[in-house]
Amino acid sequence: MRRRAARVGALRLSAVGALHGELRVPGDKSITHRALLLAALATGKSRITGGLDAADTRATARALNALGAHIDWRDEAVCVQGTGASLLRPSAPLDLGNSGTGLRLLAGALAGLGVPAVLDGDASLRRRPMARILQPLAAMGAAVTGRGGHAPLRIEATGSLHGIDYQLPVASAQVKSALLLAGLAAAGTTRLVDPFHSRDHTERMLPRFGGRVRVVGEVIELIPGPLRATDLEIPGDFSSAAFLIAATLLVPGSRLLLRGVGINPTRTGFLTVLGRMGAGLRLVAEHNQDGEPRADMEITHAVLTGTHVAAAEIPSLIDELPILMVLAAVAHGETKIEGIEELRHKESDRVEALYAGLSRLGVGMRVEGHTVTIHGGGLRRGGEVDSQGDHRVAMAFAVAGLAAPAPVSVTDAGWIATSFPGFATQLATLGARVDQSG
Ligand code: S3P
Repeated sequence: MRRRAARVGALRLSAVGALHGELRVPGDKSITHRALLLAALATGKSRITGGLDAADTRATARALNALGAHIDWRDEAVCVQGTGASLLRPSAPLDLGNSGTGLRLLAGALAGLGVPAVLDGDASLRRRPMARILQPLAAMGAAVTGRGGHAPLRIEATGSLHGIDYQLPVASAQVKSALLLAGLAAAGTTRLVDPFHSRDHTERMLPRFGGRVRVVGEVIELIPGPLRATDLEIPGDFSSAAFLIAATLLVPGSRLLLRGVGINPTRTGFLTVLGRMGAGLRLVAEHNQDGEPRADMEITHAVLTGTHVAAAEIPSLIDELPILMVLAAVAHGETKIEGIEELRHKESDRVEALYAGLSRLGVGMRVEGHTVTIHGGGLRRGGEVDSQGDHRVAMAFAVAGLAAPAPVSVTDAGWIATSFPGFATQLATLGARVDQSG
């Protein structure tokens, strides 16, 4: 099985003046994964436009091809010839690379259909917790085992699963979605309670494919049944936009217009927090398409002040925490963020990664239990910061370089291709100076 990809290279961004421009960020990673998976399970041909073409989504597409779906990835659209839920038994382990979403959601779908397979990934993915899906899948009658609660996961053939009545113990949309995908082929209704209001893209997308799902408050009810193909347009990824928003906020005189960004309320907690910090942000041309709200965003530079982020806000900004912590370091005053435990289970332990990187840049950060406190007032120095093999850590520190008194060089920055291959080019278009080496 492929180990961590040999992707090397350092990235250094510096601001030579204000950033200006108008951009469209790549498609939403979470929504693209779901579109590929549901289209592969459906009967007929689906056409997906605006999808994210990056390492993570390509890994999921490769796995789905090995399972018998035909995925034709062109520049303008991805066409998926679905399998009508008759997946082939793959002849070799499926490698989901760095993608937690790909691995967990696919595990749910395969377990639901009782398709024997082995799901694996790179060194980072092998470290991430899988018991959170293994336990409820077992309760549905699935036979899925991991190695000490980790990938590789082995799925054995089983008879039909039965629906489950389950309250999610962790704030994880991947767990919720894995169980919904398993529930599609189960006997009886699957009823999930999500008190955390984690991202709801699966619930929104299932009806587009003819799935029967009903959401009332925290309760999600899925009635099993077949899916049929559909066409979808994926919005821009709010989590990628967050890095460009932050860059604009940090560099004096900057102004940016971002077109067609997804603004699903389960994802945009970062905007609420930025509002409290004094950011200048405006949403225009808000509209809904294919079940997902979107808008253009106008951002202008602002002087930020520290804030308090409550644990209940975390699920709506979980992927934005690395860049939020960089902004907190530059803001005036202290920022306290509660309920950060899930941050330790991402592509890296992001609490440790942020602690290491911010310390290098002379920023004081305190971790007490599940609360982190960042002492603002600006980055004190430049230096070399390691990405820790994590795309969002790499992008957060690259953006920090725009506000540091000396260059910040992010090593092993090639991991950015996991979710945002055009990141450096887009910042260069806005006027940042980009130096890449290695
Ligand atoms: C995702 C859910 C979140 C998020 C990840 C994508 C998804 O993870 O951090 O980047 O697509 O469902 P968890 O489900 O582990 O919280």
